[in-house]
Amino acid sequence: AHSENGRLKQLYAQVSQLYHHILVNTKLGESALEYLHARGLSDEIINEFQLGYAPTDELLQAFFHEKKIDDYQLLRRSGLFSERKDETLKERFNDRIMFPIRDQMGQVIAFSGRALTADKKVPKYLNSPEGPLFNKRKILFNFDKAKKTIRHTGEVFLFEGFMDVLAAWRAGIKNGVASMGTSLTTEQIYLLEQTATKLYVCYDGDAPGKAAARRALELISPLHKFELGVVLLPEKLDPDEYVKKYGEASFADFVMQNRQTELEFYLEYYKQNKNLENEHDQLEYITAILEKVAQVTDPLLRDLTLGRLAKEFGIERVNLESQLQVLLTRFQ
Ligand code: UTP
Ligand code: MN
Ligand code: MN
Ligand code: MN
Ligand code: MN
Repeated sequence: AHSENGRLKQLYAQVSQLYHHILVNTKLGESALEYLHARGLSDEIINEFQLGYAPTDELLQAFFHEKKIDDYQLLRRSGLFSERKDETLKERFNDRIMFPIRDQMGQVIAFSGRALTADKKVPKYLNSPEGPLFNKRKILFNFDKAKKTIRHTGEVFLFEGFMDVLAAWRAGIKNGVASMGTSLTTEQIYLLEQTATKLYVCYDGDAPGKAAARRALELISPLHKFELGVVLLPEKLDPDEYVKKYGEASFADFVMQNRQTELEFYLEYYKQNKNLENEHDQLEYITAILEKVAQVTDPLLRDLTLGRLAKEFGIERVNLESQLQVLLTRFQ
């Protein structure tokens, strides 16, 4: 007999195939497929990621009925349904584009469904609930496919979302994974530690994305496990919007040419909301940067940053160095 988890995985595999079939082969999926095409996704990538569509009809119940899958407890625990007051099952995903979420082995363990309309009353992405198979903290979207390239290059790109990973994939960046939102976890970092030595944070260019990139750096940097980089996208764009606006080739170029070191990122980041004509703000800024410099172990990187600060503010380098010494003794 199969374990409960094994049976759940089997169920998810079947449902994933079904949602995909509905999207690509049926009238029910037509407008969803049009939506994905309009967002620049080819049939090839739709197949590669087995994107699907969950219609509003009671699709799954009819399907399970036909397949004679009638283990009510299993269906209840699958996270594919919610329960009505009278204990009948109601499908969780309705009229949504379905992104299968896979474990390291490539087996589907959850779904995220994107609404087709921008209705503020429903969440843009609805995820499977956490369960025996799906612990969101421990999963990175696309890690299963990306890990081959990650191993090969030692590099990984961290994105926020599904569409960003797909956009990067189209641009030839096959070593992209998504934290599925802006809250990266230590468990997700642990997954990457096993395979990558260089990690590039490429979150959305909007204010929440920048703040999340900073939090990610603060989480990753003290581990000293990765060489870190950040890619800040212009005009508040996310990777998917960048590709839409400037094209796939341009995205790959941008990423390769705009990988900042951690300290370069902070040099820009701490300028937000500061008036650097003003001495008070200048001091605050320089102190904030020096605190970051003090936490970086790479001597070259520290040296470069001190040089930049000295030049930008016309300060004697020795003064920056002595201030850094003060901070260093505090951090040790
Ligand atoms: P974003 O709001 O940046 O969405 O959320 P997106 O990825 O750009 O999606 P599109 O382009 O509008 O389709 C980033 C990621 O956060 C998670 C998803 O994984 C999403 O891809 N998220 C976002 C959720 O889980 N639920 C939400 O309601 C919104
Ligand atoms: Mn089309
Ligand atoms: Mn975002
Ligand atoms: Mn986004
Ligand atoms: Mn987007």
